[in-house]
Amino acid sequence: MDYSCKTGPAERVKTACLVVGVFQKNRLPALSKQLDDAIGGQVKRVLQRRDFSADSGQSLLLYEPNDCAATRILLVGLGDEKAFRPRVLRNALEPAIQQLNGMNAGECTILVPFAAGKDDVYRFIREAVDAVEAAVYRFDQCKSESKPPKKPLKHVDFVVSRSQLNAAKHACAHGRAIGTGARLAKDLANLPGNICTPSYLAEQARSLARGRRNLKVSVLDEAQMHKLGMGSLLSVSRGSRQPAKLIVLEYKGGKADAKPVALVGKGLTFDAGGISIKPAANMDEMKYDMCGGASVLGTIAACAELDLPLNLVGVVPSSENLPDGDANKPGDIVTSMSGQTIEILNTDAEGRLILCDALTYTERFDPAAVIDIATLTGACIVALGDQASGLLANDDVLAGQLLESGTACGDRAWQLPLWDEYQQQLDSNFADMANIGGKGAGTITAACFLSRFTKKFKWAHLDIAGTAWLSGAKKGATGRPVPLLTEFLLRRAKAPM
Ligand code: BES
Ligand code: MN
Ligand code: ZN
Repeated sequence: MDYSCKTGPAERVKTACLVVGVFQKNRLPALSKQLDDAIGGQVKRVLQRRDFSADSGQSLLLYEPNDCAATRILLVGLGDEKAFRPRVLRNALEPAIQQLNGMNAGECTILVPFAAGKDDVYRFIREAVDAVEAAVYRFDQCKSESKPPKKPLKHVDFVVSRSQLNAAKHACAHGRAIGTGARLAKDLANLPGNICTPSYLAEQARSLARGRRNLKVSVLDEAQMHKLGMGSLLSVSRGSRQPAKLIVLEYKGGKADAKPVALVGKGLTFDAGGISIKPAANMDEMKYDMCGGASVLGTIAACAELDLPLNLVGVVPSSENLPDGDANKPGDIVTSMSGQTIEILNTDAEGRLILCDALTYTERFDPAAVIDIATLTGACIVALGDQASGLLANDDVLAGQLLESGTACGDRAWQLPLWDEYQQQLDSNFADMANIGGKGAGTITAACFLSRFTKKFKWAHLDIAGTAWLSGAKKGATGRPVPLLTEFLLRRAKAPM
């Protein structure tokens, strides 16, 4: 999608469609009112017919307005004026843009209904771009016949005032890059496990780096991991015919000596549970167990597109988890790269087994901070549903920055405690630790396990089991937490907003 920002009177914009916000009770936001005054009150007169209540998500299409350069006006309901904020705009715009994408318009110009203040402009346009990206996303790679819209939207313009122009342009650029990253993450997660294997993920990472001077990708194979002593990671892939991969991305946008931020993402391309096999119902969804890894690729793609001035490392341990004669068995004890031994009491708690070795490997980059991202526990879905990702950290400043970034962009996280008292749930009679912590606090004990491999750096863990995927009618990947991570990195790079 192409985005641009314009100033000047909306009635003079030559466009296939002007998108105009309306509040309930026939209230018009300032810019909509200006337009309506310039075109002789046509909008007001239509609203007086009372066919349109302006509830959020409602829309009404007007053709060939008089005294207006646009060929259509799409009125979009924004709900209650008092409750209006950027997120509301996003949710109202998505169905409207979907409608436009299915018509013969090909382009549109959005009159953004700002509340007030300069800060608002940036956030409103970020949310608008987010809505556009979500509305036009399609996944039809696996359909024998794809039926694309006959004239898909290619271009979206925003009309803003002169003083808002810079903030608006930054918002378009950032929103677009996040859209690109989220799309990559969604595509990878929606692909089935027989196509998106560890080798496929590695190939996707390699192709990201192609043509990019400041992005380098290397892929470690099982023999190299064996030499490094990654006994925990390799124990998971032993039950699979697909060889495990450790994908390493290095983005150098900052000063040569600036310590990188490391993103470590769980890349389980299919999780059947192993010998501790999962029930059959909905097991297909376990193809999304690589969403942590996909969000690492997506976030690095977004940062590279924006040329952010910082250094990043991405580490994606990738494997399948299947039952097999050679698979992990309950009671098996493995030795991790750190030297710590692990008793595997449940082979379905495999994410932490591959992440622990990836986290130890990350030490060699001397990172300023490490964030791991993983669809790690069903317990996180029970606790937080699909609204917030679970956040646990050994550093309160880092945790605070991630929470704030998530709140700002609407891709929220919620912190859970990582108190020492929980650690004893991982006690084992036979090894240094068990890989599960018993009944209670499953998301916390999973993070406790990881914390034993992150002592040497500032670290935060995002459990995205609930947020990376939607079940039911809207079944599919969400692209989360690419927005949260990119927002965090934009702030860290002090990108103008
Ligand atoms: N990938 C799953 C977690 C998961 C479950 C993600 C549902 C998304 C939806 C993970 O590998 C797993 O199986 N975790 C177990 C841990 C348990 C055995 C301690 C779980 O949550 O049941
Ligand atoms: Mn599992
Ligand atoms: Zn898993």
